[in-house]
Amino acid sequence: MSHHGNSVGPAERKLPGVEAAIYELRTLRDCLRYACSRFHADKIVFGQGTDNAWDEATWLALWALHLPPNELEPYLDAHLTEIERRTLLHLIDRRCRERVPAAYLTGEAWLRGQRFRADPRAIIPRSLIVEALQVSLDDWLTDEAPRRVLDLCTGGASIAISAALRYETAQVDAIDLSSDALELAGLNIADYLLADRIQLLQGDLFNPVSDRQYDLILCNPPYVNANSMAALPPEFLFEPNAALAGGVDGMDLVRRILLDASAHLTAQGLLLLEIGHEAAHFETAFPQLEFAYLPVSAAEDQLVLLTREQLSNLKTADPEESAFSHR
Ligand SMILES: C[S@@+](CC[C@H](N)C(=O)[O-])C[C@H]1O[C@@H](n2cnc3c(N)ncnc32)[C@H](O)[C@@H]1O
Repeated sequence: MSHHGNSVGPAERKLPGVEAAIYELRTLRDCLRYACSRFHADKIVFGQGTDNAWDEATWLALWALHLPPNELEPYLDAHLTEIERRTLLHLIDRRCRERVPAAYLTGEAWLRGQRFRADPRAIIPRSLIVEALQVSLDDWLTDEAPRRVLDLCTGGASIAISAALRYETAQVDAIDLSSDALELAGLNIADYLLADRIQLLQGDLFNPVSDRQYDLILCNPPYVNANSMAALPPEFLFEPNAALAGGVDGMDLVRRILLDASAHLTAQGLLLLEIGHEAAHFETAFPQLEFAYLPVSAAEDQLVLLTREQLSNLKTADPEESAFSHR
């Protein structure tokens, strides 16, 4: 037998289970460190509100301890009582063993300082459109703030609510096909006391608003391509399939939206469309389309901005070349 046979494999890295951890850990910082070790060891996937283990652990910990979600620092070295450690570490354990997303474990999600109720009736709010609304979209608008706004595919209504908060006199329509999502949207709108300015409508894309026109259409549609859908990490399977799946190239809904959007825009109106990591599929699907990407802090090419004119040109493009002819 050779000297270097199988004795050089990686060493074992043991992590204590929850019960042992409850008795040995002391401070909030201890528990956050343990949570990060567990998340890495268990290969947890992020992307439903946070993008790293520390932020995910902090989110769950501050919620479990009834502390404000943005106030970690003063409490980091505080001792936790046994009951608090037990509550927090069992939550961490569920996140790892059952892979339930943090937003569904806590019943809420935070998006740029705004709280939304979250449960499996709708996708967890994380749209980049909300940052664009708060920071950069105004640079693209005419001097007047939009008066009529449509949030197409509204889910839990985080985009509709953000738009209503940003444009304080705007009337916002919010459409979704899913009655479950609209129930949750209604609760969020009530939390923000916006029922008089946001109208929820159920139906397929633009159907519920046959002849209405908008200064601004915001849309975060399902756009995940079939290969990515087949490889979804377990935590994403807790979200409604119809909120994610966009067909073979992810562009099924997007094609229909681009075809109909111009009829629902005012002369100066704009469509802001989220396409996630599907820029390559988008550009392949619409080779004739003129458009701009609106960059946000997390991405250069995930938000597409289109004028009514650009959308009308696409509609009248040579049918042989058209995005709508080959599928
Ligand atoms: C990616 S989610 C976005 C939800 C929300 N706007 C957000 O950003 O959190 C897409 C939403 O589109 C809805 N949807 C799917 N197909 C639809 C259709 N044909 N007409 C209207 N809504 C649809 C789904 O129910 C889901 O709520």
